[in-house]
Amino acid sequence: MIPSHLECSRDAAHRFSPERLATVCPDDGAPLLVRYPAYRMDRPPVAARAWTMWRYRELLPVGEDEQPISLGEGATPLVALARVAASLGLDEVYVKDEAQNPTGSFKSRGMAAAVTVAKRLGATALVAPSAGNAGGALAAYAARAGLPARIYVPRDTPAILIEEMRGYGAEVAFVEGLIDDAGRLAGEYARERGAFNVATFREPYRVEGKKTMGFELVEQLGGVPGTIVYPTGGGTGLVAMWKAFAELEKSGWIDARRPMLIAVQAEGCAPIVQAFDRGDEFAARVENGATKLWGLRVPGGIGDRLSLRALRESGGRAVAVSDEQAFGAMRDLHYDEGVDATEEGGATLAALRILRHQGVALPAPIVLFNTATSLKYSPRESEESTANAATKTHVDPARRERAR
Ligand SMILES: Cc1ncc(COP(=O)(O)O)c(C=O)c1O
Repeated sequence: MIPSHLECSRDAAHRFSPERLATVCPDDGAPLLVRYPAYRMDRPPVAARAWTMWRYRELLPVGEDEQPISLGEGATPLVALARVAASLGLDEVYVKDEAQNPTGSFKSRGMAAAVTVAKRLGATALVAPSAGNAGGALAAYAARAGLPARIYVPRDTPAILIEEMRGYGAEVAFVEGLIDDAGRLAGEYARERGAFNVATFREPYRVEGKKTMGFELVEQLGGVPGTIVYPTGGGTGLVAMWKAFAELEKSGWIDARRPMLIAVQAEGCAPIVQAFDRGDEFAARVENGATKLWGLRVPGGIGDRLSLRALRESGGRAVAVSDEQAFGAMRDLHYDEGVDATEEGGATLAALRILRHQGVALPAPIVLFNTATSLKYSPRESEESTANAATKTHVDPARRERAR
C-alpha cells in the first residue's frame, strides 16, 4: 500500500509526503518512519500469495498493481536447532536463516524495498556506505532496477564482497576508516552528484523491507517468538521487527505480547551494549572499533535511540561476545546443525550460551538470526575456519558417537 506519510521518529508532529524522495527529518535529523493509511492485512489473501516478502504488500510501500524490484527475497526458513537446544537444556531454539536470501544476506529485504520506492519516485542513481553485505545487495537491486550504484566501503572490506559489488556493475570507492566514515562520503557524493543515498536509517524504506522478518516469524510460529537474538550493527533489523509487531497488532494478527529482544554486538565494537548498560538514551561513538565480525563493525549511527528503545520496551538486553566466541559458535552451527552460519549468526549462539551460563530466563521459543551466508569470508578467515574445522573433525567424540 502506498504510505500515507513519513513521520519523524523523534517528534511525530513532523510529517512528510511519501510522494517525494526522503532522507531524514529535515527539522531534527532523526530517522523517518513509514506510516500507512490503514493497518488491514487479512490472512487468507496473504496465505494465497507466493512465499516471498512481498506477500505482505498491504503493509509494504508498493501500489496495488505495482511490480516491486524483486529477486524473490525473504521467505527464509526457520530451522529448528535440536542439538543446540539439547546442549543448553532448552526446549525450542530456531535459526531464521537469512543466508538463503538473494546475494546471501538479509540486506536484500531492505534494499528491495528501498530500491523499489527510489525507482518509483524518480531516482536516477543510488549510493550507499557498506560493511559488505549491504553493498552486494544494493549492487544487485540497482542492476535489477537499471540504475547505476556507487558504494563506499572501508578499505579492509573482504575482497570477495568487493568482487560481488563490482560483478553486479556497481562502482566501489574505498574509504580509510569505518562504515560511518564511508557514510559521510556517501552523503557528500549524494549532495554533489544528485544520487539518492540509501544508507541505513537515512532513508525510510530499508526498515520496511526488514520488517518482513517479523511478519514471517509470526506466520512460521503461529504467533510471536518468546525471544529474538539478533546481531546488531546499525540496529535496522531490531527496529524493523519491533515496528512489524506493532503493525501486526493493529492488523489483528497478534495481541499485545512481544518477544524479548536481545541485541548482540562484538566486544571490540559495542556502542549499543555500552549505552544499554549505562541506561543512556543515545549511544556514544566507539573510537577505533575493531572486530572481524564485519557486519557488526558499526561504531555508531542514527538508529541508536530507536534500537535502545525497542530493547528496553521488550524487557530485553544487549550482550557483547568476543570474535573467538562468535567464530567458535559459527563453526558449531555448521558442524552440529548443517546451517550455513556467518560469523554474525555465530555471535547470536555465542550470546545465547553466555546468557544461559548467567542463568538468564529466556522465554521460548528462542529465535537466533543468521543474517548472512558464510561463503563470503575473506580468504584468511576461510583458511582459519578450514583449519579449525579440520581440527574439530579429529577431536569431536560426540559427533563420532552420533555418526555410529
Ligand atoms: C551479516 C550482518 N549481520 C548483521 C548486521 C547488522 O545489521 P543491522 O543494521 O540490522 O543491525 C549486518 C550489517 O551490515 C550484517 O552484514
